[in-house]
Amino acid sequence: MTERLPYLTSRLQGFGTTIFAEMSALATRTGAINLGQGFPDTDGPAAVADAAVAAIRAGHNQYPPGPGIPELRAAVAHHQKRFWGLDVDPDGEVLITAGATEALTAALLALCEVGDEVVALEPTYDSYAAAIAMAGARLRPVTLHPPDYALDVEALAAAVTPRTRLLLVNSPHNPTGAVLSEAELAAIAALCVERDLVAVTDEVYEHIVFEGAHRPLAGFPGMAERTVTVSSAGKTFSFTGWKVGWACGPAALVSAVRTAKQFLTYVNGAPFQYAVVTGLGLGDDYFDGLRDDLRAKRDLLCAGLSAAGLTVFPPRGTYFVTADIRPLGSDDGLAFCRSLPERCGVVAVPDAVFYADPATGRHLVRFAFCKRADVLAEAADRLAALAPRPS
Ligand SMILES: Cc1ncc(COP(=O)(O)O)c(C=O)c1O
Repeated sequence: MTERLPYLTSRLQGFGTTIFAEMSALATRTGAINLGQGFPDTDGPAAVADAAVAAIRAGHNQYPPGPGIPELRAAVAHHQKRFWGLDVDPDGEVLITAGATEALTAALLALCEVGDEVVALEPTYDSYAAAIAMAGARLRPVTLHPPDYALDVEALAAAVTPRTRLLLVNSPHNPTGAVLSEAELAAIAALCVERDLVAVTDEVYEHIVFEGAHRPLAGFPGMAERTVTVSSAGKTFSFTGWKVGWACGPAALVSAVRTAKQFLTYVNGAPFQYAVVTGLGLGDDYFDGLRDDLRAKRDLLCAGLSAAGLTVFPPRGTYFVTADIRPLGSDDGLAFCRSLPERCGVVAVPDAVFYADPATGRHLVRFAFCKRADVLAEAADRLAALAPRPS
């Protein structure tokens, strides 16, 4: 049967999503603590949830306008100015999407020709390889290596060929937790300008940075006119199921992305769009609190993983941490993750799924810490069972 599936379907089935589904099913079946998939186990701010309920009650239940409701486009533009000093016109330079995933896929579909190359920082978030394949383009990965996952600027420049259409940049970076430095971003910007490339940036963790600061690539010289900046309410407000995201950038690029979105979902999440307006208007204390809470959780889980004997690469942002399992005597992350629920009642995901060549990340495993502190403390206790016993 499989050989009769269309080419694209059979290609996409090979991507990491199947491993995510397997690990989540494993968590459900075994009752293990699920630190695999990255979703919070508590809801976001009550005021934002109340605003969604109020929007439903107020009758905002039909198709919203194609680019998104004007109130949310204005709120996104205000957010870009308030936090990052970027000027974005809510009419024409902001598009509301079904999460960041749709914004990224629509951008790739809209901006790539079949056969174009897309350079992305590897390990890549799992939708990238699939979306690039759907666009008929080719992924050219530039690998970030532990322990610090710094960008090799020369390798990046070498990956750009005459077929390169765009650079897909993710910072803060999932799964490594790396946050690109000012110098790294400046080098990426200079390369884009020199080689006349479009940049698509995935900034869904823009408010989850523990060390250093987030800087949008669009703010670097020459970048405003060639960058599509993507983000989402899912991570910032802990409502990942609402799938409200956005793309900002020059009108010509955003209009191209909108054309692709038109035929993917057309529009999405009318009442949730109203609720996200409330979220984006929350005070600085909310955004500071989100970051500080997750920093404490990062420290809790990293300590637990280190005590269990893994080599931990503490993230500077996001709510994921990657660890090297080799000190525990195994170098097969997939087998390790499959056995983890039985060994200690915890679920994680193998980083191998984020690499073009799975062998590159074979010994690495990712854990999510967007969970309640008591859940993380329990996970740390359980992981201690992995620690080699003194002989
Ligand atoms: C780097 C990155 N980009 C995009 C997404 C998806 O965002 P959304 O749920 O808004 O589609 C995620 C979710 O895990 C992510 O980690």
